[in-house]
Amino acid sequence: MLIIKTIAKVRKEINKAKSAKKIIGFVPTMGALHRGHISLVKKAKRECDFVAVSIFVNPAQFGPNEDYRKYPRTLQSDKAMLAKEKVDLLFYPSVQEMYPEGFSTFVEENFLSKVMCGRSRPGHFKGVCTVVAKLFNIITPAIAYFGHKDYQQAKILEKMVKDLNFALKITILPTIREKDGLAMSSRNAYLNSEQRKNATCLYSALMLAKLLIEKGERSPEKIINEMKKIIKLTPQVRLDYVIIANAQTLRELKAIEGKALIALAIFIGNTRLIDNLVIDVKK
Ligand code: PAJ
Repeated sequence: MLIIKTIAKVRKEINKAKSAKKIIGFVPTMGALHRGHISLVKKAKRECDFVAVSIFVNPAQFGPNEDYRKYPRTLQSDKAMLAKEKVDLLFYPSVQEMYPEGFSTFVEENFLSKVMCGRSRPGHFKGVCTVVAKLFNIITPAIAYFGHKDYQQAKILEKMVKDLNFALKITILPTIREKDGLAMSSRNAYLNSEQRKNATCLYSALMLAKLLIEKGERSPEKIINEMKKIIKLTPQVRLDYVIIANAQTLRELKAIEGKALIALAIFIGNTRLIDNLVIDVKK
């Protein structure tokens, strides 16, 4: 596995791979890799001839009071996991390489970013779009892989690709979960054992919503109220938001029909966790 820190060297390797007619797959990450990330890598390896992974904890997507400094950095084990999957190239740039002095151009999506996590974390998706646009320009993949776990992020990036005519396809892959349903996340490492137990309320709330819909409930308000009860009953947990929305527009549904996104975010101590489910409700 090539481990490269500079954009110039990445471009050389990408050019070589393209000269050899290789299809380039790309998995952007912030490291602290787990099975969720690896599921994206495995799919990329199955579909592409040359797989690049980036590890970059992107300061532009963290708010001033968020966990940029504290974010887990586990490069040695990340490298081992990626080498095991036979990843071709790991791009591991410094902040200076990505944002040299005088950097002043940003990419902002202005519709899907206005709700949910975009409302709770102002500027977050601008940071995500900017770094991912840069990474797309550096790696120039044919296919880029994202997780359903960060559903809003994936939809915003799909929109960015469409609006700005990036010549690539975005593939969104299922959320990988722990045995008890908790979605795998680098941030789960922040949880102590009691918080870890309580974190399952995310999945329980989603499963209850699914059950209610399967039983015929079509009122988002009623379902959201039941979900809120579960969150309220869980110690140490504070609700950030819960929403039932059109899975394409991310706007709240008045009645559940078609592809419905059920998404929520909570705080456990200082740790913010998100999860979601998309349910296709036939008329
Ligand atoms: P990060 O949180 O490291 O996630 C990288 C990719 O892994 C994202 O596409 C995310 O949705 C996916 N992922 C995370 N947990 C997952 C799980 N349990 N199952 C399936 N996929 C999962 O998302 C980011 O980094 C950053 O915002 C980034 C896109 C790299 C831009 O900085």
